Amino acid sequence: MYLTKEEESILDGEKGVWRAKALKLLVKLGELNNADRLIGIKRAHLSGVSYKTVGDPILEMLEDMAQSGIKVSVFTTLNPSGIDLESWEKLGFPKPFVEKQIRIIKAFEAMGVRPTLTCTPYLFENRPSFGERIAFAESSAVIYANSIIGARTNRHGNLDALAAAIVGKVPNMGLLIDENRKADVKITVKFSLKKDEQFGLLGLYIGDLLRSSEIPFFKFEFNENIDEVYLRALGAALASSGGIPLFHVAGITPEAKMLQSEKEMYKGGEPRDIIDVTEEDIENFKERVIEELPEPDLIAIGCPHASLEEIERIARLVSGKRIKKAKRFWIFTSRYIKNEADRRGLLQTLENSGIQVLADTCMVVSPLEDMGVTTIITNSGKATFYIPKLSKNNIKASIYSLEDIVNLFFE
Ligand code: F3S
Repeated sequence: MYLTKEEESILDGEKGVWRAKALKLLVKLGELNNADRLIGIKRAHLSGVSYKTVGDPILEMLEDMAQSGIKVSVFTTLNPSGIDLESWEKLGFPKPFVEKQIRIIKAFEAMGVRPTLTCTPYLFENRPSFGERIAFAESSAVIYANSIIGARTNRHGNLDALAAAIVGKVPNMGLLIDENRKADVKITVKFSLKKDEQFGLLGLYIGDLLRSSEIPFFKFEFNENIDEVYLRALGAALASSGGIPLFHVAGITPEAKMLQSEKEMYKGGEPRDIIDVTEEDIENFKERVIEELPEPDLIAIGCPHASLEEIERIARLVSGKRIKKAKRFWIFTSRYIKNEADRRGLLQTLENSGIQVLADTCMVVSPLEDMGVTTIITNSGKATFYIPKLSKNNIKASIYSLEDIVNLFFE
């Protein structure tokens, strides 16, 4: 792999130990993936923020880095933490967890990272442009940036994204290269999807069938336009069960819209495989993997973090009604969107119906299992997939559409 003189001097430690370590990690990654060189980026987004997912070793490493004075060299934002920074006490987050969580956030801040604490940086604070090369971690943000914006990022882990943010470069490999962005498999969806949960279930189902290196090209035979929030749900679920970093949708996603013919979409001009999906396939999949939970401890919406439009939609649906059959209903979003929702009077409408809006954290990476939650209903395929895994099976999760949630649990 070609390195400039400046990169070689960084590797030799001339700009400090941590910068050398960061570059060494990127060079190793590049060599393993046949990258020819490093290329510059202007933005990054980091995962590995919640104390629940990183624990003491990463907390100590981040504090060491911060104390050394190292800073990120590009605009860098942060994924959700394990707590709502303003309301943790009122909501019952455990104090020892909170203390460690705050140390992690402070260490990132000392390195110049913006504590946005959201997995949807692309909605406002950190939105790349079409074709821009970036370093995003957080699988749902990676697949959104690649597929729905047409930016270019590999699926970074927490450490290599941090390394890229420090150095301001990434290895030229994988999805940064045109040919690698083409599709492998054609997915024909042969029914009309009407509910949000169906997009999450479709993503989980297809992710389960594909390898993480396979890029799907979707043709929806009965959905002409698909709302951005449903594409987000589809992408987040594909990235969860399949580890998939990019998908295309005929006539909808930007790279698919640029094609003259469908042949141009595929590596080698042909799909390696064609998968037809019927409504029955999705229903059978749901029955096989998801359990009914009639009286959940918590209803949770906002995985990925809810947009303002989603919050508005929920407020419209529940206006004048009150939750009856669940102990808590929480919507997870970014601090930025929560403030905007408050400004528009939406928080009051939601509170009147028994719903609270949480910021800075999420239903998967907060320590809900230590807060008396054992069952969750959500409309998110990704959350349904990860909640049991990250809670070591102490929490069961099930997926319902937003409309069904309002019909079943409100009066
Ligand atoms: Fe975001 Fe947490 Fe879901 S980071 S995508 S809300 S698992």
